Amino acid sequence: MQDYMENFEKMKRLMLGFSAFQTLVAGEKLKLFQLLSDYPGIDRKKVAENLKLSEHAARIMLLATCTYGLTERKDGKYFNTSMADQFLTEKSIFPIANFTKYNDVVQYKAFQYLAESLKADTNVGLQTIPGEGNSLYKRLAQSPELERIFQDAMAPKDRNSRSFYFDAKEFGDVKHLLDVGGGPGLIASLLKKENPQIKITIFDLPTVCERAQATFKEEGFSADLDVHPGDFFTDPFPSGVDAIQFSHLLEIFSEDKIVFLMKKAYDALPKGGKLIVYGMGCDDEESGHNADMAAWGSLYFFLLASGEGMMYPCADYRRWMKEAGFSSVIERRNEFENIFVMATK
Ligand SMILES: C[S@@+](CC[C@H](N)C(=O)[O-])C[C@H]1O[C@@H](n2cnc3c(N)ncnc32)[C@H](O)[C@@H]1O
Repeated sequence: MQDYMENFEKMKRLMLGFSAFQTLVAGEKLKLFQLLSDYPGIDRKKVAENLKLSEHAARIMLLATCTYGLTERKDGKYFNTSMADQFLTEKSIFPIANFTKYNDVVQYKAFQYLAESLKADTNVGLQTIPGEGNSLYKRLAQSPELERIFQDAMAPKDRNSRSFYFDAKEFGDVKHLLDVGGGPGLIASLLKKENPQIKITIFDLPTVCERAQATFKEEGFSADLDVHPGDFFTDPFPSGVDAIQFSHLLEIFSEDKIVFLMKKAYDALPKGGKLIVYGMGCDDEESGHNADMAAWGSLYFFLLASGEGMMYPCADYRRWMKEAGFSSVIERRNEFENIFVMATK
């Protein structure tokens, strides 16, 4: 019976997961957590006044946020929990507001098509995003507001928000890095600050390259950081680089496409050139241990972003790099499920 009650507790979290998530979203939209960070210990009436809610609306919202561990009630006064303070306010070390917004606006409806996507073996959830094209990225390029929400969610706030990437000593002797699918330029700019010797070229879709160029100008890096607009599947990789990076990219694609891109990288690199893969991955055993992000990301790519791909384990990248012709593969995976795999030509 004890086992039954424990399982019932766990099952409630799953069965009502949508309620917990939307409570988090509403708390962010209303700026409830910022309010309790600025004025800890206010009562329900004050919360209602500040958020311009009726007292009944504030009452049920606070019941929900207390239930889901976001706020605490002590003697009729309300406080953020340490979790809310750590992730949900302007002072947070790791604010998740942009990512939560992306999950809500772009992914939430698409996840209702998981079973249909699994059966059809493709991204049936993409029908929830307006526009043409068979990938989320092609459709985002047609919706400036959604593309901005996506890029804001992916953008690192600072070097600490991309665990063990900016510390990688392997960038120390790279002269010119081609960042395939590099995004709007923030990562390249942070990497440049860590490695002053480096030149970086971002190869991304034209709309994203425009944003990257603006970022480089703002940061004063236009001399060393530039862009190469195009489609990395159909357009050739520029030559003259000594390292090629796929960051948070290969997990979007099927094995065939990954090996195609790795072979393309191999052909574009000189002898001794480096191939760097950074992203998220599950453990080699695919046991589900420490794999919340890997499980979510695998579903997300499959049912929405591309209709293929997953948060592959390092073992797969090792094998594909060898298949593409590379040797001496090194790899790391940390407790945040980030992976860093590097091979040399
Ligand atoms: C998940 S984001 C990764 C961004 C960045 N590398 C990072 O580490 O956060 C994938 C990027 O690949 C770009 N992309 C997707 N398909 C592409 C294609 N066929 N050609 C060029 N860029 C593409 C998208 O525009 C997006 O900026």
